[in-house]
Amino acid sequence: MNAISPPTPIIPDNAPFTPAQRAWLNGFLAGLYGGAQAGQSAAPAPVEAEDFPWHDPALEMEERMALAAGKPLKRRLMAAMAQLDCGQCGYLCQSYAEALAEGREESASLCVPGAKATTKMLKSLLADAPAAAAPAAVKPAAVEKKTALVRVLQASRLTLPGSAKDVRHVVIDLAGSGLHYEPGDSIGLAAQNDPALVQALLTSLSATGDEPVPCPDGVQRPVREAFTTHLDIARPQDRTTELLAMAATHPRHAEALRKLTDGDDDAEPAHADLLDLIEAFPSARPPLADLARSLPSLKPRLYSIASSLRATPGQVHLCLGVVRDLRRDRLRQGVASCFLADRAIEMGPIAASITTSHFRLPADPATPIIMCGPGTGIAPFRAFLQERAALGQKGRTWLFFGDQRGATDFLFRSELEAWLADGTLSRLDTAFSRDQAEKIYVQHRMKEAASDLWRWLQEGGHFYICGDASRMAKDVDATLRQIARSEGRLTEDQARDWIVALARQGRYQRDVY
Ligand SMILES: Cc1cc2nc3c(=O)[nH]c(=O)nc-3n(C[C@H](O)[C@H](O)[C@H](O)COP(=O)(O)OP(=O)(O)OC[C@H]3O[C@@H](n4cnc5c(N)ncnc54)[C@H](O)[C@@H]3O)c2cc1C
Ligand SMILES: NC(=O)c1ccc[n+]([C@@H]2O[C@H](COP(=O)([O-])OP(=O)(O)OC[C@H]3O[C@@H](n4cnc5c(N)ncnc54)[C@H](OP(=O)(O)O)[C@@H]3O)[C@@H](O)[C@H]2O)c1
Repeated sequence: MNAISPPTPIIPDNAPFTPAQRAWLNGFLAGLYGGAQAGQSAAPAPVEAEDFPWHDPALEMEERMALAAGKPLKRRLMAAMAQLDCGQCGYLCQSYAEALAEGREESASLCVPGAKATTKMLKSLLADAPAAAAPAAVKPAAVEKKTALVRVLQASRLTLPGSAKDVRHVVIDLAGSGLHYEPGDSIGLAAQNDPALVQALLTSLSATGDEPVPCPDGVQRPVREAFTTHLDIARPQDRTTELLAMAATHPRHAEALRKLTDGDDDAEPAHADLLDLIEAFPSARPPLADLARSLPSLKPRLYSIASSLRATPGQVHLCLGVVRDLRRDRLRQGVASCFLADRAIEMGPIAASITTSHFRLPADPATPIIMCGPGTGIAPFRAFLQERAALGQKGRTWLFFGDQRGATDFLFRSELEAWLADGTLSRLDTAFSRDQAEKIYVQHRMKEAASDLWRWLQEGGHFYICGDASRMAKDVDATLRQIARSEGRLTEDQARDWIVALARQGRYQRDVY
């Protein structure tokens, strides 16, 4: 992906264009190929054309479905997914779609970033399709990775007192694990459910905790252990609501549970965890073993690595946003983020694996890089900058960072300022959204710096974005297109082609979630 690119095509002087047309076309081609001065820039070679035009998280569901119209079911199913290949479902978008189409996977609710919209579309596509092949006896492992034991050493607060957020600097010891990574990779970590939540669930189910139940690996374990370590009790799926509906002796409970299974917009309780369901529907009490069998396995969570092995040998650092939320008078705690923040240090070894990413620094350190990472999206850019600092690289590096308030949420401020001072980072633009009456976001800073940003890209620069997929990444993508229109004088269609070409050359890379 990061090899030297072919020279930028130039419109010859004798071609049938006016000088103005020739200048415009040369500019457009330079934008496409990444280098106004062809040969001088270290732009990477175009990667192979994508097979799946809908495989782009910046496209809306409607656009993706239109691109996949008329294709086989497995491709339309793929188009319904969030296109992040984040691995949270245990597959990639393509392999999850194929598993559903071939009947190897039963659950249409596994796409975490795609959320309800994806689940609804998958269900409707599957309902319209002819019956799939009989499910295979054994589900093939979706994403196989080396798993090893690591220890969490530290989970200290990065946000300062007064912040609305709890963001942690997590340090993980890789000693003895044999795990290695490159800047840009992510780590998958196994988490455990909160023991207090498990106890509340057992109490509601009138269980002691010792009753044996089957786990997804086929082993029987006491239900307390199964709920704590093996089963996802935070996000029950259709299989569980169906089972509860069948068991419910009260008709209103059965009806409400069916509405939840159907994904009706007004179905209650919304965003229910298993405890919500057990408390809301006291007449629904299937056998414990059946309940356990209906639950998905507790999946590892992925985190972008915020360190470089050259700077922090034997360690992984994370920038972790702790998820806490008050819902129906109960504090909801993100399974993995609260586990890592509050309990993992005492837990001893936990299972981890490295997910190798496409998100990579350019091969040539002289290539300009523009990094856009608000909030915890800063993580891989700290890794990039640590790596470059360790190697003594001083090229053109530009970071857009944003968060709520400068005084409390300026993550890694002193490190970033030190890198600015020693030339590891050549430009830092910050956007603190709540330091003034109107919202200021990273894309506003990009617009203010549009002409420099366009010039860096024309000179072969790479653009990286990390963080929130649902709002920020879409807006930053739209801003890039707008800059291509205003600075490169491209039409809307040309701006779209330009950004697609940039991505295909590996010069526009996204790690969004
Ligand atoms: C490739 C990749 C890289 C990632 N890198 C990072 C990273 O560097 N740092 C990081 O903090 N996270 C990162 N994440 C997100 C991370 O994997 C988890 O999703 C996150 O920590 C929440 O998991 P949880 O188990 O704590 O919450 P869960 O128990 O899974 O609950 C999450 C639920 O809370 C809601 N929610 C509310 N606020 C948030 C929030 N701030 N984040 C997520 N869900 C929220 C969601 O709608 C969801 O229903 C990354 C995800 C991917 C796919
Ligand atoms: N699944 C979920 O429900 C959920 C919810 C929250 C976060 N998350 C995940 O957690 C990740 C990191 O969260 P985080 O707390 O570190 O950061 P974050 O929520 O992305 O916030 C970082 C900064 O981005 C700003 N922001 C909000 N909307 C934006 C937009 N459209 N464009 C640009 N900037 C915008 C925020 O401003 P304001 O806050 O002032 O608007 C804040 O200043 C997110 O990227 C997301 O994937 C998931």
